Amino acid sequence: MIGRLNHVAMAVRDIAAAADVYRKVLGAQVSAPVAQPAHGVTTVFITLPNTKIELIEPLGAGSPIEKFLARNPDGGIHHVCYEVDDILAARERLVALGARVLGDATPKMGAHGKPVLFLHPKDFLGTLVELEQA
Ligand code: CO
Repeated sequence: MIGRLNHVAMAVRDIAAAADVYRKVLGAQVSAPVAQPAHGVTTVFITLPNTKIELIEPLGAGSPIEKFLARNPDGGIHHVCYEVDDILAARERLVALGARVLGDATPKMGAHGKPVLFLHPKDFLGTLVELEQA
């Protein structure tokens, strides 16, 4: 069912400093920061030849990544994002198999303007999984 690895997301406290690590130290192609108020984060995308890295920094009060950063003060891998051909069909299959979809299970517009869903880490080996419509 899942297709390409769309991105690996890393939560960070200081997105400018984090972007500099990828730009200056690792020599990667790094986007400008974009505020995503609907998701409570600011994002930077790093384009690699075979996938992307998404840096996410808390935006505003009650950001969904605050708890993660409280547990991981140096930042860390927050989620992986897999592409699916049909996000609603994927949701039906996962729910039928007993997997928990976070929130109200309605796909939301993600950072790339495509519908996304998040799956409970306890059902996926301790890792938060994002599904994105390909
Ligand atoms: Co993501």
